[in-house]
Amino acid sequence: MAERSLTFRIMRYDPDMPDVKPHLQDFTLKEEPGMTLFVVLNQLREEQDPTLRFDFVCRASICGSCGMLVNGRPSLACKTLTKDLSNITTLLPLPVFKLLGDLSVDTGVWFREMSMRTEAWVHNDDPFDATAEEGRMENETALKIYEAERCIECGCCIGGCATANLKPDFIGAAGINRVARFMVDPRDKRSELEYFEVVGSEDGVFGCIGLMACDDNCPIGVPLRGQLAFVRRKMAAVGWKMR
Ligand code: SF4
Ligand code: FES
Repeated sequence: MAERSLTFRIMRYDPDMPDVKPHLQDFTLKEEPGMTLFVVLNQLREEQDPTLRFDFVCRASICGSCGMLVNGRPSLACKTLTKDLSNITTLLPLPVFKLLGDLSVDTGVWFREMSMRTEAWVHNDDPFDATAEEGRMENETALKIYEAERCIECGCCIGGCATANLKPDFIGAAGINRVARFMVDPRDKRSELEYFEVVGSEDGVFGCIGLMACDDNCPIGVPLRGQLAFVRRKMAAVGWKMR
């Protein structure tokens, strides 16, 4: 394989220097076998510009820190191989989230607010009994919960969502997935009406305009299309009864 010289066109912006407008800066390096964008960005920071800002923790598609727009598409940088990219690649930070600098965004605040808003914990008034045996659950139910729990909170579904880009209060696919997770959990005693109050609005499940970029962009394949249909069906039935 011929050695390639790769150019990365990276957005630069430092919120502490508001006089310097956001701009693109080109960096060039030699491609190496098995190279990922994680390797690229670290090499650029070590060898060319120590001020370059981006986020990584796990390098293994687990922590959700490294979401960014790779040629316009929300992607995990640690999972993106340079062999799948052309000679020039544009890297931008994920939109919707607070920009911390260059490619680094704060997804944590967004996900915390979403968790509080969806009350993402099991609602149950059963008295706590430390000596009680573990409750049992049907395998099928446990697998549905596991499927929703696979979300790594990377924000790719939110960054690529037209509604989330237009409406800051939209709960997004990750939020709807979170609600679906608790709806199937038999330990959660919330009524469908209570869920309707959380998600039965234009900022919730009815704000989705069905473009399904979330489902296309989720890097770990959480079944967002199915989760959305599940929650929307349930909430539409509640809304119908309330008429
Ligand atoms: Fe990322 Fe997928 Fe979770 Fe959205 S649903 S935050 S794309 S892992
Ligand atoms: Fe953890 Fe990419 S560094 S998901």
